[in-house]
Amino acid sequence: MLFDSVVIGCDHGGLALKEALVAYCRELGVDVTDCGTFTPDSVDYPVYADKVCRLVLAKPNAAGILCCGTGIGMSMAANKFIGIRAAVVSDPFSAEMTRRHNNANVLCLGGRVISAEQALTFAELFLNTPFDGGRHQRRVDMISEIEKEQRVTS
Ligand code: RB5
Repeated sequence: MLFDSVVIGCDHGGLALKEALVAYCRELGVDVTDCGTFTPDSVDYPVYADKVCRLVLAKPNAAGILCCGTGIGMSMAANKFIGIRAAVVSDPFSAEMTRRHNNANVLCLGGRVISAEQALTFAELFLNTPFDGGRHQRRVDMISEIEKEQRVTS
């Protein structure tokens, strides 16, 4: 795996995927932090996006995985963090390309969109695909510039 650790979180809509992903990462011997939620009770997805993204930014070379009903709310919340590049994925091509072209560091998955089996496939692709760099580095740097500009003007 390209990352030193994986931080995972979910709301009730993503609980089944999160449980499958945590078990899968532990079986592989990956250093995984499970930020919850741990029960099917209804919870607010931004709370878990916040927990996971803070840890992804604090740990060296960490990836995040966030699961909710669609993956969309999690990605919206995660992308508010400077330095987080979160992508909702529901097909294997996007799982690979968001690493190769966007250097994504957080994978967002929808428990009401994909199966647990698909989640494992997409996570495996995401965690093992390197960033292509080159012209894509320039474009990712442009995203960082937008973040910097927003920080000083807001
Ligand atoms: C919760 O019902 C649902 O809104 C949430 O899991 C997620 O899909 C939001 O984007």
